[in-house]
Amino acid sequence: MSVVSPHQTIAAEGSASPQTTSADRPLATAKRSQSAVPRRLRRYLSLADFEKTARQRLPRMIYGFIAGAVETDAALRDNRRAFDEYGFVPRVLNDVSSRNQMTTLFGMTYAAPFGIPPFGSAALCAYRGDIVLARAAAAANVPMILSAASLIKLEDVRRANPAAWYQAYLAGDALRIEPLVDRVAAAGYDTFVVTADVPVPSNREHNIRTGFQVPLLITPRVAWDVATHPHWLLGTWMRTLKNHGMPHFENMDATRGPPVLSKNLVRNIGNRDQLAWKHVELIRRRWKGKLVVKGLIAPQDARIARECGVDGVMVSNHGGRQLDHTVSPLRTLPEIAAEAKGMTVMLDGGVRRGTDVLKALALGAQFVFVGRPFLFAAVAAGEPGVQRALTLLKDEVDRDMALLGVRSIAEVTPDLVRRLGPEPPFGRNTP
Ligand SMILES: Cc1cc2nc3c(=O)[nH]c(=O)nc-3n(C[C@H](O)[C@H](O)[C@H](O)COP(=O)(O)O)c2cc1C
Repeated sequence: MSVVSPHQTIAAEGSASPQTTSADRPLATAKRSQSAVPRRLRRYLSLADFEKTARQRLPRMIYGFIAGAVETDAALRDNRRAFDEYGFVPRVLNDVSSRNQMTTLFGMTYAAPFGIPPFGSAALCAYRGDIVLARAAAAANVPMILSAASLIKLEDVRRANPAAWYQAYLAGDALRIEPLVDRVAAAGYDTFVVTADVPVPSNREHNIRTGFQVPLLITPRVAWDVATHPHWLLGTWMRTLKNHGMPHFENMDATRGPPVLSKNLVRNIGNRDQLAWKHVELIRRRWKGKLVVKGLIAPQDARIARECGVDGVMVSNHGGRQLDHTVSPLRTLPEIAAEAKGMTVMLDGGVRRGTDVLKALALGAQFVFVGRPFLFAAVAAGEPGVQRALTLLKDEVDRDMALLGVRSIAEVTPDLVRRLGPEPPFGRNTP
């Protein structure tokens, strides 16, 4: 398996390639390979590189909506810091030439141990954002989750990616939940994700400062912001209006929600603070496919999820966008993995590199999701951009597996990581 992207040359350190001639004589040189990556995508060398282009193109309010978190950004910072607190203990001389990162999740075999999590309003950020993400994920054979707060009909997204999952934002109201579950099932979805960490809207002060709200309200500040970002105005907003009409919140309920731009309509998010485990049990009885709860951090909640018959949990603090100072999911992951007892454990928040993917897997996750960078990639370069981002991360995982001395995801075990520095006084989650 090649770890070298088609556009890269094999160089320097340890570059002797084990090729042989028919006479079994080692070759000292090999032909430089031609780049298969389109020129405009070659400058993106890591997931972080997409944000810069996206930031230039997006109105300030939309860039802030994606990049931002809440209040002091403490939860957002901890998502990165937790990964930085671990280092690797690689193994050597393992003959890793047969390595592969294919991962089986809920009976599906994916090409990589990572996927794309749900993004509300993705089609407001990038032209046809949900379809772009869905198609790129399908092409790469990784999972993609469609958000309840999306702007393209869930039936259309499922057609673009017949393996997409659906994520719900629910009010604690059986009369709204049941018809939605039936609609998602009728559209052919196999996996239903309930996001659990949004009982009330969080305190996103940066959205208030920039004037971002959905449905959008055109104020003089918003009009100026949009007018000074013509790439987005013409390439996303006007193009959407021309080709598809005014986008609506299509997938919050069984029926269509309000338009994304409105003077007097708001979304009826209902009694989200009444949502409780009894509603998860209700969905469990009605939903025949896989059921996932996203947005829990406490090991006790993972246990309750298992007792409710949930198939998988996504350990997540919503990318630091809900309760500020919530600890990184990586910190409770080992305890949750110990509590899982057959239930699938996934994680998101702050995963940016192949090394992060492997750290999370070593600490007990079976799968991870990577958020903001894939949405920035959609903004920066559409479907090819997301494909490029997926390939970059996949190549990193592959290269890192080789350097770590493992051949399969099953070989990524806790002994390959160490916590750096002195043990914290509360270090129960050290493997
Ligand atoms: C712009 C944006 C919109 C999001 N919308 C949703 C959503 O509709 N539903 C949901 O469960 N999570 C949503 N999330 C959270 C992501 O699914 C994911 O948990 C988070 O982005 C992971 O953190 P990361 O961005 O650091 O990788 C959103 C995140 C962003 C950045």
